[in-house]
Amino acid sequence: MDVYGLIGRPVEHSLSPPMHEAGFEALGLDARYVTFEPTDAAAAVSGAAALGVAGLNVTVPFKEDALAAVDPDDLAARVGAVNTVDLSTDPPTGHNTDVAGVTRAFDHHGVPLDGAAAVVVGAGGAARAAAFALAGTVASLHVANRTPERAERLAADVRDAGATVGDSSGSASDGPTAPTTVSSGGLGTLDDRVPGADVLVNATSVGMESDETPVPAGLLHADLAVLDAVYSPLDTRLLREARDAGARTVDGAWMLLYQGVEAFELWTGEDAPVEAMNAALRAEL
Ligand code: ATR
Repeated sequence: MDVYGLIGRPVEHSLSPPMHEAGFEALGLDARYVTFEPTDAAAAVSGAAALGVAGLNVTVPFKEDALAAVDPDDLAARVGAVNTVDLSTDPPTGHNTDVAGVTRAFDHHGVPLDGAAAVVVGAGGAARAAAFALAGTVASLHVANRTPERAERLAADVRDAGATVGDSSGSASDGPTAPTTVSSGGLGTLDDRVPGADVLVNATSVGMESDETPVPAGLLHADLAVLDAVYSPLDTRLLREARDAGARTVDGAWMLLYQGVEAFELWTGEDAPVEAMNAALRAEL
């Protein structure tokens, strides 16, 4: 039997175990997925490797620490965070499937990102994944955050990563492929940016277990596609107000699903049974 797991703190209410176990079951794989709350990411990764654990997901607060405990792929190194570890290699390899979670969620809904004007609200881990997912594909990316300094740091990291990829490899199969204009500011800059935007991602925690929204309803419009990283509740105030404005909406469970699908495929080498994983996830929400 193969054992997979999640390290984080807290992980008690994680939806990853039912989602992945539904995937294993659908493919008839003899595998389990369990959660751990270690105190140290590096010790957890090497301990799991020693125990023969096949793969790990990594969540808050260990995504940055995990980077130092693995051999990261290009994308994880650029983002500066690891959410998936493959323990079948020595040393373990680190990946960031949160980025694919964002692109595949939009793709599933037929939202074109090529040449779009994009706005990411937030500057934490979820915002990093969203910003790196959009950079290189969209024409412009604006990061707006309550603390503008954090937004500027993220914008600068995205710009630097773009330059590094172009300079060092000359190809960009896995990263920025087109020049994206990256800007940043406080939440007040949403007033200027959202009316002309094609794509908006809420990557703040605003709306989680509350009926608040980080984006004033009056800014939303029918030419916008809105992805809310918040999935509890699934139908946030932002998504309701976006729908009322005629915008397309993508809920946070799609992001969660596709980061899991991408991890599942990395670990097992099989096409993930997306429908079974999605059904198991939504049954929990
Ligand atoms: P995660 O890694 O899950 O994204 P995080 O690093 O704690 O979590 O980031 C949370 C994000 O939500 C941040 O962008 C935070 O803004 P600050 O950088 O100013 O802290 C944002 N956020 C949290 N509560 C908020 C609120 N009440 N209003 C606006 N933004 C908020």
